[in-house]
Amino acid sequence: MTSPAETPLIRVRRSGPLRGSCRVPGDKSISHRALLFGALADGAVEASGLGQGGDNLSTAAALRALGVDVQIAGTDARIAGVGFAGLRPPAAPLDCGNSGTTIRLLMGLLAGRSFESELFGDASLTRRPMRRVADPLRLMGATIDGRQDPARPNDIFPPVRVKGGSLAGIAYDLPVASAQLKSALVLAALSARGRTELREPARSRDHTERMLGFLGAPISIEASGAIVVDPTGWNGRLRAVRIAVPGDLSSATFLIVAALTVPGSDVTVENVGLNPTRAGALDVLRAMGGDLEITPAGEAMGEPVGRVRARASRLRGTRVDGDLALRAIDEIPALAVAAARAEGETVFADLTELRVKESDRIVAVARELRRAGAAVEERPDGLVVIGLGDHAPSGGAVVPEHDHRIAMAGAVLGLGAADETAVPAADIATSFPTFARTLAELGATLAEASR
Ligand code: S3P
Repeated sequence: MTSPAETPLIRVRRSGPLRGSCRVPGDKSISHRALLFGALADGAVEASGLGQGGDNLSTAAALRALGVDVQIAGTDARIAGVGFAGLRPPAAPLDCGNSGTTIRLLMGLLAGRSFESELFGDASLTRRPMRRVADPLRLMGATIDGRQDPARPNDIFPPVRVKGGSLAGIAYDLPVASAQLKSALVLAALSARGRTELREPARSRDHTERMLGFLGAPISIEASGAIVVDPTGWNGRLRAVRIAVPGDLSSATFLIVAALTVPGSDVTVENVGLNPTRAGALDVLRAMGGDLEITPAGEAMGEPVGRVRARASRLRGTRVDGDLALRAIDEIPALAVAAARAEGETVFADLTELRVKESDRIVAVARELRRAGAAVEERPDGLVVIGLGDHAPSGGAVVPEHDHRIAMAGAVLGLGAADETAVPAADIATSFPTFARTLAELGATLAEASR
């Protein structure tokens, strides 16, 4: 076991201009879906550009435990699809690691199987709410149990047990705009009797709808935005095709914010996913005065892809709320770094969901920004950040609490600090194992070292 004294750290120092072009790992959300839907396909699915972070590896490992042959070589994967009926009861509880997408999508998938499974995760995942998924799956006919927490008696938490069975379609208003919840219910609906109609309070990322539609699943979107799944008369088969996963805009946003905030920088991120339900961060950074050049370069499996060039800019405060906040939900830690380096006030609102991410990101972002010297007001649904403007942030020790995005936000903030910033490296591997190397290749002053 690694003792704290040996924990690898990334040591970041004030950096000169970042320059060049780079790629980021495959999109984490799309990679999960490539693996999961590939496992359900009618034959072998080849995926390229797959994310290699811990979260995607958790999905791959869980599928293997369910009897699916998943071979991964670098960023290529071959998934020997077994169809819905081919999944086998797992011999042991399924370890979902740090990954909310893994546990929630699997809950939906396993709800329609006629065996029992248990799903668990790390300390962070163990604190994340699962009733949002359990309630509608129970309505469809599954039996779901979870860990109770006396401090939060109205919810359930991992480990969760799913006793699947014969499901019936439902018409359901999701209590929260969540792509993980929506996708879990879509997967359950594909093996249910009759029609399922899902209505979201606002439109969350739509990777599941795009990819399943592409693979031939009976899924459609109504003019109202409702998602309809009706397997009546469907042969139950998903096409075995090649899947090209675009680069992850969430990872790219850290590099883009680094380029915008380090004077003299000019960085291009190639082949990055630009799905509009995910790309709110680019709109926010433009509204802050960020010099961004976005060049679309076609589509991969119904997902728009392109290149983003970011040049150092004087940033000013802005407001991030409503639909924009939802479209930038995973990028708030990176955007908060931009806000801390900007002139003036940035308000982040309508973001209560941030409290139940890999950490309570409202608390964690406020802590890291304050450590760096910015004034931050925490609100129940967000943050107000008073930017440092021309003042340099301070360095120090970043405390990510098993949250990869807090770790990377701390590192990017450190690129402007006069003194050193120390970031535990391990958490970053959840989504962006090559983060430090990529930044160093662009010219950042950082080193990976033991404590
Ligand atoms: C994801 C959905 C979002 C997002 C997460 C990935 C997905 O979570 O924050 O990082 O792949 O479906 P919620 O569904 O909880 O909003």
